[in-house]
Amino acid sequence: MKLAVSGKGGVGKTTLSATLAYIFKERGAKVLAIDADPDANLAGALGFTDLSGLTPISEMTELVAERTGSKPGTYGTFFSINPKVDDLPDTMAKEINGVKFMTLGGVKKGGGGCICPESVLLKSLVMNLVLARDEVVILDMEAGLEHLGRATSTGVDALIVVTEPGQRSLETARVVKKLCADLGIKRVCVVGNKVRNQSDRDFIAQNVAGLPVLGFIPYADSVVDADRLGLAVFEKSPEAVAACREIYEKLVN
Ligand SMILES: Nc1ncnc2c1ncn2[C@@H]1O[C@H](COP(=O)(O)OP(=O)(O)O)[C@@H](O)[C@H]1O
Ligand SMILES: [Mg+2]
Repeated sequence: MKLAVSGKGGVGKTTLSATLAYIFKERGAKVLAIDADPDANLAGALGFTDLSGLTPISEMTELVAERTGSKPGTYGTFFSINPKVDDLPDTMAKEINGVKFMTLGGVKKGGGGCICPESVLLKSLVMNLVLARDEVVILDMEAGLEHLGRATSTGVDALIVVTEPGQRSLETARVVKKLCADLGIKRVCVVGNKVRNQSDRDFIAQNVAGLPVLGFIPYADSVVDADRLGLAVFEKSPEAVAACREIYEKLVN
């Protein structure tokens, strides 16, 4: 199964991605969790504390240059738009508690429609992860779905839009829905996070432009504590994990 998780910053994408990664692993799957949000900290949410050796792929200047045939520090030169990437998940992924993860990193934005060696490498890598790997792949993405092209999108089994019970993240959820339609992603569903009561659930369900709601995760102090302590939510928050297990069941059935 290939999953993408999107939504506004701060809604709980990384929390959900990391927890689902551990649930899939617990059920016997091989899992590759991919930090594809330049602003994400998936490694931390998985409970990985030694973040020192974790250079994002986009910042591996030599690798980017070698694979795309571009020279570092030059601009406007020719480079390959079809770099070799199939070995990278095996050589670059780190492992924690049986879950493998990789950090893609951000790409400095040029003008509209900019194509740079970093973005080409990341896009190729995401395509490889979605279309060619046999693990469960969970992509923790930003709302812009930056690294998904139309070809890659055909391999995404489900895109989960995470939202809080608030106007701003629900507005983003509707924008993501539109992007998914443009990209041709077949199954798009919503997870409502940080919900406190039935009124929060109703508010989300009524404002997601008809997207199916896969489940709700309660607002929990234990999730905040996990973040403070640098521990995985999977270890620290039984209530959030129980909600994520229900979401898992709906995803796989
Ligand atoms: N169910 C929840 N209850 C309480 N706090 C939460 C919950 N889910 C996420 N958070 C907190 O919200 C913040 C943002 O979560 P995060 O998963 O990093 O969001 P995103 O990846 O969408 O930016 C974190 O501090 C996290 O601990
Ligand atoms: Mg995040």
